[in-house]
Amino acid sequence: MFEKVLLKNMDHPESHTIGAYEAAGGYKALATVLKKYTPDEVIKQVKASNLRGRGGAGFPTGLKWSFVPKDSAKIPYLCCNADEGEPGTFKDRALMEKDPHMMIEGMIIAAYAIGAKIAYIYIRGEYELCINRVEKAIKDATEKEYLGADILKSGFALEVYVHRGAGAYICGEETALLESIEGRRAQPKLKPPFPAISGLYDCPTVINNVETFACLPHIFERGVDWFCSIGPEGSPGPKLFCLSGQINKPGLYEAPMGITMREMIEEYGGGACSGQVKAVIPGGVSAPMFPVSDLDIKLDFESLAAAGSMLGSAGVIVLDDSACVVNTITRITEFFNHESCGKCTPCREGLDWCAKILRRLESGDGKLEDLDQLEALCSTIFGNSFCALGVGASWALQAALKHFRAEFVQHIEEKGCPFH
Ligand SMILES: Cc1cc2nc3c(=O)[nH]c(=O)nc-3n(C[C@H](O)[C@H](O)[C@H](O)COP(=O)(O)O)c2cc1C
Ligand code: SF4
Repeated sequence: MFEKVLLKNMDHPESHTIGAYEAAGGYKALATVLKKYTPDEVIKQVKASNLRGRGGAGFPTGLKWSFVPKDSAKIPYLCCNADEGEPGTFKDRALMEKDPHMMIEGMIIAAYAIGAKIAYIYIRGEYELCINRVEKAIKDATEKEYLGADILKSGFALEVYVHRGAGAYICGEETALLESIEGRRAQPKLKPPFPAISGLYDCPTVINNVETFACLPHIFERGVDWFCSIGPEGSPGPKLFCLSGQINKPGLYEAPMGITMREMIEEYGGGACSGQVKAVIPGGVSAPMFPVSDLDIKLDFESLAAAGSMLGSAGVIVLDDSACVVNTITRITEFFNHESCGKCTPCREGLDWCAKILRRLESGDGKLEDLDQLEALCSTIFGNSFCALGVGASWALQAALKHFRAEFVQHIEEKGCPFH
């Protein structure tokens, strides 16, 4: 069985406290980093580890940090994206509730590397327990001088603040998140300039996911070679998977990337509820679904991209053979339509059309031409949306139409849902 790294402390009843974290070796990596490495050396090591962002896009973390200008008069900011809005995703919540210091230690290492003096943690507003635990963790870490004006007598200073999320899925998109921290309505901004060049208050800003930060202490405690030895070459390091849907043992699991969807469902999840998988969504609802014939595809960044989907937030959602794909994709499209920020027409209008057509199909009033219309709408939304919300929404619908067209046709011919 895989040795737990990110979840290693979770069974300890006091795992969220600074005492338990220190007793398990916590904050030793930070001490090593501050004593042994310059900021540039830290970036070099993170690049060598090939740590890829756990927030959705899988962007190389060290490379992102290296874009922060070294000669700027503006002091960079660091932001932790803890908005966790993707349906089917609950890994960041567990890390913040049960082991907040792991993320905070990673943030201090990251801030040292990029030269930030102030960091924000943007936490989903509904995550009340996370907010309380992270705020307490910041207070305790400051008292122990892991945060504050002179961290571990190194001369390095960092303050960390929690910012409560504004209650919309789009707040997790990095430029919208920064708008929200600045007190404006969360809407995505044009890139470039990327936040690393001009982000929060027009200063260089690095934004990383909770799990990305949580990986950092382990890289410096156990070494780059150890980190690279876990999982495939292009997707190294420990990874959290959120297993949900019609599965016997739903839950949060840690595994190396590169395991197949079949292994995840059977060995970790105890199989589908009915015994027969129909479809799997591998990375939260914006990741295109696969039919059962594709269960041997590996859960890693490269394999999923090559197969026409993505690892995304690693929210693995299982549909068994009692599920209706038309019903499922209708609910998903309604979610995206509701969460569309309204800035651009293809997403704002297109998703509303898609949702209306899908509801018609689901209720048995659909026509075969509706399927062509849905496909045309998806192509328009996919190619013309301002941000990845529209892209993900149309991509997910395209996959359902591609793999389960027969089920859509059945709804039209039988004038209703054959599963209900
Ligand atoms: C609509 C939308 C929602 C997103 N929501 C989240 C989120 O809740 N948490 C997150 O970490 N990243 C989210 N992202 C990705 C972020 O924009 C960004 O890529 C990520 O925080 C970078 O961190 P990483 O490099 O550590 O993955 C979202 C992206 C989009 C387009
Ligand atoms: S794609 Fe959707 S969420 Fe993104 S900017 Fe356009 S309207 Fe807003």
